[in-house]
Amino acid sequence: MLTEALRRMIAHKGDRYAFEPYKTGDIDFSSLPEEIGLYIHIPFCRRLCPFCPYNKTLYNSNLAARYYRALLKELELYRPFLGGKHINSIYLGGGTPTLMMGEIALFLEKLRNEAGFQGDVGIEVHPREATPENLAAARNAGINLVSVGVQSFHGPSLSFLERGYGPEESHQGVINALKAGFETVDVDLMYNIPGQSQEDMEKDLETCLSYGVEQVSIYPLIIFPLTPLHNKIKSTGVNRFSELAEYKIQRKLERVAERYGYQRTSIWTFGKKGVKRYTSVTRETFLGLGASATSLYNRYFYLNTFDVEAYIKALDSGTMPISLVNYMNEREKQVFWLFWRCYDTEIPRRRFSHLFRASLDRNFPLLTAGLKLLGLAKDQGEVLKLTPRGTFCFHFIEKQYSLRYLNNLWDVSMQNSWPKRLEL
Ligand SMILES: C[S@@+](CC[C@H](N)C(=O)[O-])C[C@H]1O[C@@H](n2cnc3c(N)ncnc32)[C@H](O)[C@@H]1O
Ligand code: SF4
Repeated sequence: MLTEALRRMIAHKGDRYAFEPYKTGDIDFSSLPEEIGLYIHIPFCRRLCPFCPYNKTLYNSNLAARYYRALLKELELYRPFLGGKHINSIYLGGGTPTLMMGEIALFLEKLRNEAGFQGDVGIEVHPREATPENLAAARNAGINLVSVGVQSFHGPSLSFLERGYGPEESHQGVINALKAGFETVDVDLMYNIPGQSQEDMEKDLETCLSYGVEQVSIYPLIIFPLTPLHNKIKSTGVNRFSELAEYKIQRKLERVAERYGYQRTSIWTFGKKGVKRYTSVTRETFLGLGASATSLYNRYFYLNTFDVEAYIKALDSGTMPISLVNYMNEREKQVFWLFWRCYDTEIPRRRFSHLFRASLDRNFPLLTAGLKLLGLAKDQGEVLKLTPRGTFCFHFIEKQYSLRYLNNLWDVSMQNSWPKRLEL
């Protein structure tokens, strides 16, 4: 019921939320905005974690070299439309981006020299790759924000997740990242891992915060139906905390973070006051490069093909590797923006007016009044701020969005390099 309501809210008037196969000429690339973030996807990992829904494949140096050449070609295809535009940030995600650290350094240098790029660069680092050498190479390449995918400091939790390392490497990864001189060190943790007690979860967070990292991202483990973990759990059965218990745990974790002087900066993150936030998903507009990368600007939300070989082949023949496009009408653009502002836990009304030349309260009277009436949000100056109860409700909605929409979109895209029309 909730996902149906979400679908109706996104698509409005019961239209389907649909992705169409891309055809040359369908997208007006010259409508790239003046200010844009760049997302670069590196789809290689040394081993594949059973819980991970992201697009990735086992690392192979030959394939990685061919992939890098394809990335350069994709950038060349966009170059005529990037002239005079300002790339304001770069985010390197995966997969395991550090497996291509040398190529990334060259790519960033190219963007600085040829496109005048100046701005924040963030990178995801797997703890086993968080060596002093890799981190120094990232710093030398001008990367200033890092996220270490620790997940847990608790041996049995790491074993359940089949991460291939133990608590010692979790600790060392954080220590190395802190020593390397980044502006922001973020650590990813997961909770509600089968077998983890509430005390284990609190201890993980306390351990992390006592290192003094700038930010912690703490996600409940989501069992995506497209992942091997889903089948494992279905066949073996497993005990996890219920949604309600998860809510209570979240409140406890929030109090732990506050005790250490951290503030909530999004539904999943806590940060030290005044530090630069590490964020992958909340930019208003971004251009994605690489297999499975998504782009969002003007009225377009589109995805590249997930298949690495298909991606390389498309670029070898000089065509854009775009597989599916969602064309947004004005209302869908506004809903999409609102969705990500709820993720930030605050909706700035003035920004809405500036972007859409309309009033938030006039366009979404039921939403703004309803949120306040139900105690899910309150006015804080011009900002509509989610309350803790609102934050929890949005946790739930975000999980449903991931499980229902992202899971299906990614699953179809992993099964088929060039999917047919897709209705979600
Ligand atoms: C792209 S992933 C991983 C980055 C890096 N490859 C690593 O493994 O450390 C970014 C983060 O998403 C989170 N994540 C991945 N799968 C998840 C799932 N099934 N449920 C909740 N969070 C997940 C993890 O915390 C992970 O660090
Ligand atoms: S969690 Fe990280 S290392 Fe594991 S498969 Fe996903 S991207 Fe690769």
